[in-house]
Amino acid sequence: DWTASSIVSDQISRIRAEVGDRRVICGLSGGVDSAVAAALVQRAVGDQLTCVFVDHGLLRKGEAEQVKKDFVEATGADLVVTDESQRFLGALEGVSDPETKRKIIGREFIRAFEDVARGLNDGQPIDFLVQGTLYPDVVESGGGDGAANIKSHHNVGGLPKDLKFTLVEPLRALFKDEVRAVGSELNLPDEMVWRQPFPGPGLAIRIIGEVTGERLELLREADAIVREEIRAAGLNRKIWQCPVVLLANVHSVGVQGDGRTYGSPIMLRPVTSEDAMTADWARVPFDVLEKISTRITNALPQINRVALDITSKPPATIEWE
Ligand code: XMP
Repeated sequence: DWTASSIVSDQISRIRAEVGDRRVICGLSGGVDSAVAAALVQRAVGDQLTCVFVDHGLLRKGEAEQVKKDFVEATGADLVVTDESQRFLGALEGVSDPETKRKIIGREFIRAFEDVARGLNDGQPIDFLVQGTLYPDVVESGGGDGAANIKSHHNVGGLPKDLKFTLVEPLRALFKDEVRAVGSELNLPDEMVWRQPFPGPGLAIRIIGEVTGERLELLREADAIVREEIRAAGLNRKIWQCPVVLLANVHSVGVQGDGRTYGSPIMLRPVTSEDAMTADWARVPFDVLEKISTRITNALPQINRVALDITSKPPATIEWE
């Protein structure tokens, strides 16, 4: 039967048998799946694993530090970090179209990952690539009815196309709750284990309009406030996820002190869901919403309105892009 510790010991022997004494690489995204997959492989083959974190500068507040510091402390994994935020910002300059953003981010990610991979192992090829593929991903990509392709889903742990690796996918038979149990069993930080789903292209698809450094900073602060208040209200594990979206192209009139303002709105998109295929808008208590609204507009003078998205999926998607 399936307990976290039996999954761990079972996977460790499978990974050892598969990998032998060869080298393994794993891309970390900041998410729970890649972190748990990497932690399992680390337990199995130790220093034969090198983790690579391509920091695209599009994560939320504190998430890059979680990978660089907390993950390494918890697992003892060998981690190579490459700060690519300027490269991604540069590549995204002038781009507003959602699918174009995704394509650029996917392309740049693979290039950055390849650059690092080629420099490892004294230039000798690395045989294995760890992927945090879950059971629902396996089913979804085998489905072939196109439903999964409404948006081109780019996972930052994604497979580089022209580097040849054999895949190691220790989570292939697991559902999310089992992955979380395994993560706790492996002593990963709670923040990481209970992280809500977050898209690979990160905050870039939560800024409606062009992505700039200034807008990223703004959204990062607003998002941190929302996450803090949702956690404080004990809602973190009840809400599937809560995208916080900056409508950077929209301006509305506000008033602050004696002056008229002309700022952008922040849109809150809290949803409940079982599997992200369908979703309902989450009935977040009014007092929590009030706190969020007050804190965001007090902290960020560029934001003069906070709005709530009350649409189910379908017809809307969870993300705004
Ligand atoms: P939508 O917006 O399609 O999102 O209702 C469904 C789930 O997928 C996540 N999402 C993504 N995840 N790369 C990802 O890794 C992407 O490009 C992407 N787009 C959406 C979204 O956060 C939600 O959990």
